[in-house]
Amino acid sequence: MSSEHILVTGALGCIGAWVVRHLVAAGVAVTVFDLSNKAYRMQLIMGEEDIARVRFVVGDIADPQAVTDTVAASGATTIIHLAALQIPACRANPTLGAQVNVVGTVNVFEAARKAGHRRLVYASSAAVYGPVEEYPPGPLADDAPLLPRSLYGVFKQADEGIARVYWHEHGISSIGLRPYVVYGPGRDQGLTSSPTKAMLAAAAGAPYHIAYGGHFDMQYAGDVARSMIAALHVPFDGSRAFNLGGTVVHMADVVAAITRAAPASRGQISFDEKSLGYPEAMDGSAARAVLGDLSVTPLDAGVAETVAIFRRALDKGLIAP
Ligand SMILES: NC(=O)c1ccc[n+]([C@@H]2O[C@H](COP(=O)([O-])OP(=O)(O)OC[C@H]3O[C@@H](n4cnc5c(N)ncnc54)[C@H](O)[C@@H]3O)[C@@H](O)[C@H]2O)c1
Repeated sequence: MSSEHILVTGALGCIGAWVVRHLVAAGVAVTVFDLSNKAYRMQLIMGEEDIARVRFVVGDIADPQAVTDTVAASGATTIIHLAALQIPACRANPTLGAQVNVVGTVNVFEAARKAGHRRLVYASSAAVYGPVEEYPPGPLADDAPLLPRSLYGVFKQADEGIARVYWHEHGISSIGLRPYVVYGPGRDQGLTSSPTKAMLAAAAGAPYHIAYGGHFDMQYAGDVARSMIAALHVPFDGSRAFNLGGTVVHMADVVAAITRAAPASRGQISFDEKSLGYPEAMDGSAARAVLGDLSVTPLDAGVAETVAIFRRALDKGLIAP
């Protein structure tokens, strides 16, 4: 059993469930802070015995007292901050989006400062970048201009600024990672979740239309979680946000991988030609230089594992298409 104790905010979400799975498997004590204690995404990828080892605290990240009290009372040694509302939710309610995604991040850094933490890892997003026409061709470097066109992206840019200020003013070292299109069991909300929804439909034998296409960087949720954990452990002083390179794919490659994993879905999964409009590839070399070799599950393996997990979950009645 490790002496580490990690507080994971937003851990009932997709990436959070995978972070918790990896931490529990490594014998690390985990406290989860989220809006409820409904661990259905964890149930897709963890056994009940492992879930029982997690401590759940129900609270709102936008409530400074709740966050401070939880960090202090938990005895956590570090925090992985993932709690956020995604693009559609921020668009539907910008005020709430700012409270959760910006005030929530201030609350987490404040609570970390009061508890004497020296390191924090948080999720930024590739949405800090603007549309593809703003950039030269080729993979986008970490220091390319941040020109977000969504409030969500603006909020994530603010989070990176908040992290920088807490380094300069309080010496809290932080790493923010910018995932792009995350897929895998548990990915069921957000603008880019439809490839995973297509995998669930394929596992259930149902048709599905994916609402976008084109090329994009795709990352398996389990890999993103491993990168977050690596960012917590690597020797590092400062405040940096890194692009998380993954596998650049075309949506046709994704559909082909789904068809290989679930041959009965041939011809049942379609997609729009219209791309997301963001740069296609992120240069992940700076992240690798600091974090070491990050795990990148090949597309076929990630899709096959996702479909297999969905099949088991459908059989057990844990999930519905
Ligand atoms: N999934 C992606 O493709 C992607 C891409 C880039 C960045 N990110 C970022 O990674 C992080 C995790 O993403 P995810 O895909 O797991 O998201 P998710 O939507 O699956 O999970 C987010 C979690 O945050 C919790 N949450 C929301 N509001 C809260 C509040 N007020 N207080 C406490 N908890 C709250 C939700 O209940 C949920 O469990 C987020 O910060 C997200 O912005 C995700």
